[in-house]
Amino acid sequence: MQTVSSVLDSISDIGRDPSRGGYSRGVYTGAELSLREWFDAEATARGLSVETDRNGILWAWWDATDSRDGALVTGSHLDSVPGGGAFDGPLGVASALVAVDLLRERGVEPRRSLAVAVFPEEEGSRFGLSCLGSRLLTGSVDPDTVRSLTDTDGTTFAEAARAAGVDPAHLGRDEEAIRHIGDFVELHVEQGRGLIDLDSAVAIGSTMLGHGRWRLSITGQGNHAGTTLMADRADPMIAAAQVVLAARKIAAEQEGARATVGRLQPVPGGTNVIASRVDLWLDVRHEEDAVTASLIEKIHGQAQKICAFEGCRATLTEESRSGTVHFDGALQHTLASALGRSFPGTPTLPTGAGHDAGILGAIAPTAMLFVRNPTGISHSPEEFVERDDADAGAVALADVLEDLL
Ligand code: GLV
Ligand code: MN
Ligand code: MN
Repeated sequence: MQTVSSVLDSISDIGRDPSRGGYSRGVYTGAELSLREWFDAEATARGLSVETDRNGILWAWWDATDSRDGALVTGSHLDSVPGGGAFDGPLGVASALVAVDLLRERGVEPRRSLAVAVFPEEEGSRFGLSCLGSRLLTGSVDPDTVRSLTDTDGTTFAEAARAAGVDPAHLGRDEEAIRHIGDFVELHVEQGRGLIDLDSAVAIGSTMLGHGRWRLSITGQGNHAGTTLMADRADPMIAAAQVVLAARKIAAEQEGARATVGRLQPVPGGTNVIASRVDLWLDVRHEEDAVTASLIEKIHGQAQKICAFEGCRATLTEESRSGTVHFDGALQHTLASALGRSFPGTPTLPTGAGHDAGILGAIAPTAMLFVRNPTGISHSPEEFVERDDADAGAVALADVLEDLL
């Protein structure tokens, strides 16, 4: 039987990013399409039947009865952030495949069908909207909005989906898929320092932090870097720099808040050109959704003041928002008792990251298992999981699935 690491080793060359380091596996790019093909082959080799649904979600079925309704679903995603690590997403997919091997080895005879699912564009790295596949499935996003999202090259989601063999006309709330999901359990690399000091390879997820993304476009006067005196400028980059600092200050003053500007784009973007516009993206998170809303309001208010002083204008656009999710209490309890045999005293942890399991919580009981990340770093090439911990994670997932099947 394969180990989780040997399964991951088989995709270690796909989507490497030599300039950023780590992996860049944007949804429906060559790298992610190769990963989808790899998944199809791995699942098929295990006797699972693989299908792609109307929203581009891959399903690998172990049909135990004539009906797929109320099935047990596990899985994660294969897309990555730009320059991401090897585990965010693929660990959950590889562990699900190994968990199927373990269940077979144990001679488990499922009383309901089991599916391993792969969700497209979990990161929102290419089209800006995170958990896009699960949002479409649950109907929490308008398919017209999704179809017209564009990547940095101007390719629309509709065009990218069509090129990947997914008909964009059929995107949207999927009643059949909703009926199929009885319970969803996602295994994921722990993305902070949560498990480092707990002497445990795995944890059960309790909550997922509410978060949102906003684009702030700051317009000024594009001009010549040599001929424009400092006093004569309306430089949106100067305003953007102050907004970045203001966002940090505002978040630092609010207990438990996070605010990040990880992406900033000057237009037209020349060394000897004062930009005419700077777009920056704000990622803001807090446990209380009302606080997230007030944080973004404060940052926007501060941006308006800064822009007025610099002779610029700021326009804020919300790109996505997700409330804090409390994972299903009864399912958490089932996980704890299933893990009690091999992993007694498994800790429970909140996550500051976003996950499809959070979105799917709107239509079915969902739960998460986290696997220790000794670096405490994620969305970076330094994200890591020890081989033994990865295997422990697959055993934990198999224990949980066995109990739930
Ligand atoms: C995804 O990992 C996110 O938290 O944005
Ligand atoms: Mn993830
Ligand atoms: Mn991620």
